[in-house]
Amino acid sequence: MGSAITVQAVGQRTRSGDVILRDVSLTVDDGELVAIIGASGSGKTTLLDIMSGLRSPWGGSVLRAPGNVGYVPQGEAIHTALPLARTLRYAASLREVAGPDVAVVDVLRGLDLSGRSVVPVGDLSGGERKRASIAAELLAKPGLFFLDEPTSGLDPARGSELMRVLRRLCDDGTTVVLTTHNPLDADRCDKIAVLAAGGHLAFFGTPAAAREYFGADSLDEIYERLAGLGDPAKAWSRRFFPFSRTMGGVSPAPTIPPQPGQAILVPDAAGPLSAGPVSAPLDPVPDADFDDFDLETQALADAAATETANGAAGAAGAAGAAGVPRPANGAAGPATGAAGPATGAAGPANGAAGPATGAAAVGDAAGLDGAAGVTGARGPADVDGPAGAAAARAAGPAGVDQPVDAARWAGAADAATGPAGALRALRQWSVLTRRNAEILARSKLTLAILVGSPIAVLLMFLVLFRPGAFDPAHPNPAATEMILFWVAFGGFFFGLTYGLLAICSEFGVLRRERFAGLGAGAYVLAKAAVLVPVLALVDLLFLVVLRGLGRLPAVGGYPATFVTLLLSSVAALGLGLLISAAVSEPSQATIAMPIVCFPQVLFVGAILPVPAMALVGRWISYAMTNRWAFEGLGHSMGVQALWANGNSPLGAPLLASYGTTFNRAVAIDWLILAGFTVAFFAATIAVVIRKTRTAATTATR
Ligand SMILES: Nc1ncnc2c1ncn2[C@@H]1O[C@H](COP(=O)(O)OP(=O)(O)OP(=O)(O)O)[C@@H](O)[C@H]1O
Ligand SMILES: [Mg+2]
Repeated sequence: MGSAITVQAVGQRTRSGDVILRDVSLTVDDGELVAIIGASGSGKTTLLDIMSGLRSPWGGSVLRAPGNVGYVPQGEAIHTALPLARTLRYAASLREVAGPDVAVVDVLRGLDLSGRSVVPVGDLSGGERKRASIAAELLAKPGLFFLDEPTSGLDPARGSELMRVLRRLCDDGTTVVLTTHNPLDADRCDKIAVLAAGGHLAFFGTPAAAREYFGADSLDEIYERLAGLGDPAKAWSRRFFPFSRTMGGVSPAPTIPPQPGQAILVPDAAGPLSAGPVSAPLDPVPDADFDDFDLETQALADAAATETANGAAGAAGAAGAAGVPRPANGAAGPATGAAGPATGAAGPANGAAGPATGAAAVGDAAGLDGAAGVTGARGPADVDGPAGAAAARAAGPAGVDQPVDAARWAGAADAATGPAGALRALRQWSVLTRRNAEILARSKLTLAILVGSPIAVLLMFLVLFRPGAFDPAHPNPAATEMILFWVAFGGFFFGLTYGLLAICSEFGVLRRERFAGLGAGAYVLAKAAVLVPVLALVDLLFLVVLRGLGRLPAVGGYPATFVTLLLSSVAALGLGLLISAAVSEPSQATIAMPIVCFPQVLFVGAILPVPAMALVGRWISYAMTNRWAFEGLGHSMGVQALWANGNSPLGAPLLASYGTTFNRAVAIDWLILAGFTVAFFAATIAVVIRKTRTAATTATR
């Protein structure tokens, strides 16, 4: 049995510097069902994310066997508008599953959801929706499957059934890692990783061994022991290091404690997490920097990963290097020192032999490290990272773990170049466009907003402005100027509102689909593919109704007017999408709306002509898309001639204050608006890429 996942001295810090996971090392074998348990906030989700590649560790390395990776997060990660079977059908198309219809029927049957296939996902119960989320990932038949609290919210019978489904997956060769708060779930697993507060690995082994190790009758007692007075978390993890060392590896199998029975409390007198009285001498594990992740190591590991990416090889090299820790660890002695080069030498050979062998070799190396110290595990990564990467490159892709996965992971579509990458992006764009259109057609609330906002604006227009302002015989210059501005602003407003909620309201789904290989460009452009035609229709109707009811000139360059208005709307759509991608939740997008709209009113030139603005105001006006739309509309509707020749004494002074504002050829306004559009869309794609970046993405760059 080969190693599916090798976690080597992994640690994590938050941005503020708090350590939330410390030097975790473990090896999950092929086809194993593994649970991560521990108190709330102990770092289970963090460890799961790092193991899956969704998140980069601060220090250490993770090696994964090649194959599809499935990840089911704890929260909402599936669209709710469409019927379940349709949702899964789109998920299958996006993941390029062969025979998608059959695959959907199979997963529905496997998760006991066949009877719910026509029900919209939003109408399913919480438990059913959870299973629907799992079904979406199972479509691609993942080789490694990660689930964050899959049984939470399920009744005991459904929870057991789900665990049986996961067990069947393991029997078929999938490796499954999950987090859970339910001791019964954990008991059904092959191995459990027990995390103590502060992200310490307190134990990794079989559930039976865990019970003996902690001197507990049941797994729930372990929680009490970890939380109990005199059992500081750090002490438990210290205790586990020598324990795992006695078994000759990080992942001893079978895991049998050398001295079963009541656990000896090992209070930690030195660390900041000390809580209990000293009742036994401190464990002799060398832990000079137990709490401190080696930042330099991380920097070098990053460098190794970068080198790996440049060589189109893989993080396997870097990870392999991290698994060769002894030479830098003087405390480990000559034997471990010898292990380093041996593993290094094994890199290419394992690579040639295949990824599983490679992973196993690294696992062994990690095993040799065992209790030799986390410092040792980190140190050599500095030394051997690039060399390991070079070895992996020499071995060729067969010996490379992570990048093989990465080709299907988030960022792959962004990184993919050439005709194959373009074709893939085009296919994804086409599937997403169809899905967006179907979701739009079924979502009555969204449709109501899309149709309702132009109608509301139109009605306000009609009650505010009298007809005939553009009548050459009796023009009303002040009204024409305001009409022009509010037409331009209307187009801007429609585009902005269409874009504002489009991304932030489905970020969970986006993150998950990006992890499954969705390209950011395909995603953003598929939004535009559905919303731009709707905007075109709305803008057209807006002009037709205003013209029909006499609020616009009887004659004028209407094709050019329409193009200007549409470009203004599309640029605003890009701005809306950018805001939607940048914020973390819809409420923030809503707050951003007035902040964005205000300058688009003030600095456009309608309230105060641009030539009359203060210098800074004039500079700001250049950045307002609405300014270019306003001036373009004025040009196509011939306000210059109307004000100059019309029969109104107000025309001449107005013209004087605007100067040559409306003289410019409208094509220049179009070019400027198109430039804004491209910039906003490019920025949106960049933000989506940044916000959905994963460890796998990083490894490919
Ligand atoms: N991105 C982050 N920024 C800051 N703190 C974080 C971040 N991610 C996790 N944490 C913190 O790290 C700790 C561990 O979080 P994690 O979500 O891994 O815990 P957990 O064991 O999964 O908890 P639960 O059982 O409640 O789901 C928590 O204290 C959490 O607040
Ligand atoms: Mg969690």
